[in-house]
Amino acid sequence: MKVLVLHIGMGRSGSELVRRISDNHAGDDLDVAGIEPLEKHGFYGWLVRSFIPGFQAPVREVDLKGYDLVYLIVPKWGYNCPPVNGFLKQHDLRGLRLSLLVTYSKGDVSGYSERLVGAAMKRGANVVGSLALRRGETSSGLVDGFIRQVSQRVRNVSGDSHEHEIVFIGMININRDGYLQGVVDVWRCRGCKKLFCDDRRYGEGLGSGVGFKEIPDDEQWALLICTDTKGVFMQSIPVKPGKRLEHTCKNGEKHEFVVEHDWSINPCDTITIHRLYMVKDYLNRGIEAGYYRLNLRRIQEV
Ligand SMILES: Cc1cc2nc3c(=O)[nH]c(=O)nc-3n(C[C@H](O)[C@H](O)[C@H](O)COP(=O)(O)O)c2cc1C
Repeated sequence: MKVLVLHIGMGRSGSELVRRISDNHAGDDLDVAGIEPLEKHGFYGWLVRSFIPGFQAPVREVDLKGYDLVYLIVPKWGYNCPPVNGFLKQHDLRGLRLSLLVTYSKGDVSGYSERLVGAAMKRGANVVGSLALRRGETSSGLVDGFIRQVSQRVRNVSGDSHEHEIVFIGMININRDGYLQGVVDVWRCRGCKKLFCDDRRYGEGLGSGVGFKEIPDDEQWALLICTDTKGVFMQSIPVKPGKRLEHTCKNGEKHEFVVEHDWSINPCDTITIHRLYMVKDYLNRGIEAGYYRLNLRRIQEV
């Protein structure tokens, strides 16, 4: 497999990611290149420009031909990174398998990553994965797991063994009172339109499993969300009306739910609150599942 790693500068996080990607692709043909802006600015010059939505800084052309997979390492700069905007605008990304890694030092990057994914997809890229990493997380096992998943996906779709042609179609953010707790990436086969889900819960590493789980034709993907005063836990699961779902909360409480004909579950709320959200209904939207917000809604509904 031919792999390209694109980065801007080589700060601590960027260098660590380049090293990790190189190690994980040791058996592949790998190139590393920088995105080089043609105009030079100091920190404040870039900072000001980074807050102008869509601002594009022209960059030196990069030859993307022949690569099976391109990793694009993007630092969070204000609202958007002008050289990355320039790169996306200047290059023909149609059919390019792109894996996005966003690095940041503080705050919330959910909107930032989504804008980037959207911009790359608009230019025709086939986004095969995206991961945001706070400074210090770039050396975590999360990164190796992500790289393994992404490369396995690309090998799967390029090989003859896989009948699906899976493309990234969006994500669902799960929030706890405004703070991101996890993301579900959603994929779809171009041919049969089947959905595939991939959960990422912040604070947890990625599992060792790679590839996509396929669900029966008569079932649909849903998110079972379990909320208590301490946190929000989400899991993507296949459901259909009448199906029994066994669930154990983080505090050890065991529950069994039956999926109703309207694809909901009887919440039987205790100290924990449980809700089922259909993935197809929440694509590229956020779900607010914080304990106080859900309780407020519950009181309003009574
Ligand atoms: C012009 C500019 C703007 C930046 N804006 C942000 C920002 O809004 N939020 C943030 O977390 N980091 C911001 N940063 C910091 C970097 O994105 C962050 O340090 C980097 O992604 C992590 O890599 P490092 O380990 O090399 O510092 C900015 C950096 C520059 C140069």
